[in-house]
Amino acid sequence: MKNLKKRLPSVMSLAGGLLVALFLWWALIQHGTIGLLRINLLARWGFILLGLLGMALLALAALMLWLKDGVKKWIQIIALAVSTGTIIIMLAGFAITGGIFAGGTGNSPPQLFMTGHTGVYGITDMAVVFNTEKSCVNTLYWGAGEELLEIEETAPGRQHVFILEDLQPGGAYRYRINDGPVYTFTAPAVDGTVHFAVAGDAHFGAPASRGDYTAQMLDYISRPENGFDMFLFAGDLVEYGFATGQWREAFEAFSAVSSNIPTAMAAGNHDTLFSGLGNYLELCRPEGMVNGDSFRLWYRLDVGRVHFLVLDVEWSAESFSREQEQWLRAQLESIPEDEWKIVINHGYYYASGLRIHGWGWYDNPETIERIVPLFEEYGVDMVFSGHNHRLELLENNGIVYAVGAPFGGSTDAPVVYTSPSNLWDGTGERGFIDVVIEDDECTLIFRNHEAEVLKEYAFSRK
Ligand SMILES: [Fe+2]
Ligand SMILES: [Fe+2]
Repeated sequence: MKNLKKRLPSVMSLAGGLLVALFLWWALIQHGTIGLLRINLLARWGFILLGLLGMALLALAALMLWLKDGVKKWIQIIALAVSTGTIIIMLAGFAITGGIFAGGTGNSPPQLFMTGHTGVYGITDMAVVFNTEKSCVNTLYWGAGEELLEIEETAPGRQHVFILEDLQPGGAYRYRINDGPVYTFTAPAVDGTVHFAVAGDAHFGAPASRGDYTAQMLDYISRPENGFDMFLFAGDLVEYGFATGQWREAFEAFSAVSSNIPTAMAAGNHDTLFSGLGNYLELCRPEGMVNGDSFRLWYRLDVGRVHFLVLDVEWSAESFSREQEQWLRAQLESIPEDEWKIVINHGYYYASGLRIHGWGWYDNPETIERIVPLFEEYGVDMVFSGHNHRLELLENNGIVYAVGAPFGGSTDAPVVYTSPSNLWDGTGERGFIDVVIEDDECTLIFRNHEAEVLKEYAFSRK
């Protein structure tokens, strides 16, 4: 016992040092960490200091084990105090970023997601996705006429995915789960007119976010008289993707729109941070809704002659893998020249902005160099993103770029750099973009949280 007490400072220092190493290794192999470290100087320094602390603890442990009884009492006390603090912080760090104590999403309302698999009538199939607190079997009833089709799950589970296949363009549908409330939706038409909303960066869970503004905008988009066919979200739905409670809050709020209007989500860097990737995939692109030529992090939505390519561009270009590039090239090649090619993802290309923690949050040389040439080669018409928290309209080399954020998240300070491609800057407003495509014409309306028109811009497809 006495021997153990004597050895305690060295054992604790060794444990602290190893725990730091384990945490750094785990964090570094997570999906978004490299992006975080490349772009955020503070995070970089945090990791470096943590690494130095780990090495110091390991060196101290080695020294104490080597000197045995020759170690001064005050060194033992400091080693014990620092290692105990480190062990507590590391365990808490694991638990929080790993989502260990985050709990589940509980009983989430159904989300009507577009799958990325095109049905026989030229529009994407839909998926009704929801979670339950307890494992159970559910039945979905859905259809357009009096008679509803019935789909019963074959095995109990907590995550539920029902696919609604081969929808009739412009068809009015309804669905319900078991004996629950009836939800209605209209499948997008393929007659050349598509009306959709684009938004990004709601940041549920962030102290500076205005959930009341988000709710106001969702209310506007949800109203049938405003006629939105689709809702496209450009990522950063939540502040910390590993905090399951934030997803629960987000889906409950979004349900006003996303239970009744076909919705698609792109991954944002906040959504996928640390263990957040698993939550994003499970909640926004579950395995059961992905088929055909779509992937979970990037996919294509067809609405007649209007084609949406949802990409995984999070912090910068590091998430744009070779596999994704090949896929994007193949999609762009397969879309006829005279049809709409619209890209939506989280990270921006051209933008005005600020310099924060060592990174210029404006015209991004990495995404511009790596991805824009593909857009230009294949005649992409329009690119939507978020990530910068300012509404902005830009144009470069015949392509319209629009930043449709924040949808409730904090607003960025006035720009220190204005992009030469800038056409309009809506800094300071929370809002979204209201988009109408009619044949070869497109109108973009930037609206604030009260749905007031801030900027209107019309252009023709080249
Ligand atoms: Fe954001
Ligand atoms: Fe972001």
